[in-house]
Amino acid sequence: MKTNIWTQIFLVTEDLLNKISTSKYNPLYYHGALPQFIMYILFLSGLLLFAYYVPTIDNAYFSKNLVNAYTSVAYITNDIPFGAVIRAVHRYAGDAMVVAILIHMVRVWFTDRYRQYRWVQWESGIVLLLMVLFIGQTGYYLIWDERSLLLTRMTVSALEVVPVIGEPLRNWFLNGRTISNLTLSNFLFIHIGLSFSLLFALWIHYVRMSRPVITPPPALNYILMTIIFAVVYFFPITATKIADLNSQPTSMDIDVFFLLPYAVLGALGTTGFWISMILITAALCLIPYPFTNKKPVESAEVVDSKCTGCSFCFKDCPFQAIEMVPAPAGSRFKLLATVKPYRCSGCGVCVGACAFDAIDLPNLLDSDVNEKIKQLANSQSA
Ligand code: HEM
Ligand code: SF4
Ligand code: SF4
Repeated sequence: MKTNIWTQIFLVTEDLLNKISTSKYNPLYYHGALPQFIMYILFLSGLLLFAYYVPTIDNAYFSKNLVNAYTSVAYITNDIPFGAVIRAVHRYAGDAMVVAILIHMVRVWFTDRYRQYRWVQWESGIVLLLMVLFIGQTGYYLIWDERSLLLTRMTVSALEVVPVIGEPLRNWFLNGRTISNLTLSNFLFIHIGLSFSLLFALWIHYVRMSRPVITPPPALNYILMTIIFAVVYFFPITATKIADLNSQPTSMDIDVFFLLPYAVLGALGTTGFWISMILITAALCLIPYPFTNKKPVESAEVVDSKCTGCSFCFKDCPFQAIEMVPAPAGSRFKLLATVKPYRCSGCGVCVGACAFDAIDLPNLLDSDVNEKIKQLANSQSA
């Protein structure tokens, strides 16, 4: 068991939260479900903003209020009923999403759930994190105030130094060689397109988990929404200055949840920025590597003649390695369990789940499995 100072801090925090909220509502037990719920808030509030947002720098529509991106954001904030609230909910829910993801990461790291066959969840999680951070950054470009202009120019300076593909990258980012009306439609496309792509990335994240907890209890959702509304009330979004392509803003407020990479870019320059980003990402990706299984695993095997198709093993397998298929013609039963060897970790859970002795690990007798379970139970209680 881990016994260092960090372990003590984690255990004390968990214990304290259990005392405050009881274990039924302890947010640490819904660490994956909370970012998922916040994503729904972001989709809904984003949809409402999208209805009035105009992705241009100038004069695409000659309406009084909806002339460009900046004035459309001002219109949403000042003229649409509850527009300012919806905008602030969208922004602060984005911040809450980053906090929730970081808590989720720390929790799965602390409980060692990223090891062995869960490396897919860890690596897909890193992709999700990077996507969420970039979506948030593009959100800041969309407002098209002085900060958006500075962020856009800083991004261009970072992209242009990338060897070989620097120029095409810049042209893709700006939707042309320079900033134009088309640039903002590209930012909007990236912002919304990547947000929907999160759903696909989440599918990969969940594909090997049989029962991921993706819905927090309603009480926890209400508390979360109350916290977001309280932040919206006490910290309303303040007006900023429109971007002026003929001037160069030199400083900006940094949102620590999304814009820290720009602080790094400002402090270290483009080369230092890329080196530090690549090193941090590589270090995060390599965390599960020492714990991946390098020995081939003998997967579980079903004894077809004994299998009744009861599906207990299918429900209990933590890696979605069992599939229920129609039983062959002439069988007394309707279903038959089959094992997908490429997903099987050889954990033996299915052996314990089967009441009919119909599934086995070839090199492990039932008595060995029972011994393994006993040892595990003893080490947990020690
Ligand atoms: C949009 C962001 C994310 C969402 C919505 C999300 C959601 C979830 C959910 C719902 C689960 C199942 C939790 C359970 O059943 O207890 C899960 C598991 C997991 N996640 Fe994430 N996740 C996200 C990002 C990340 C990140 C950034 C990492 C780490 C780099 C990560 C690593 C993992 C791991 C290792 C598991 C397996 C834990 C287990 O087996 O209990 N996730 N995730
Ligand atoms: S041993 Fe059984 S429970 Fe474990 S992963 Fe393989 S099929 Fe699933
Ligand atoms: S638990 Fe046993 S009997 Fe039931 S489906 Fe699985 S292998 Fe067949």
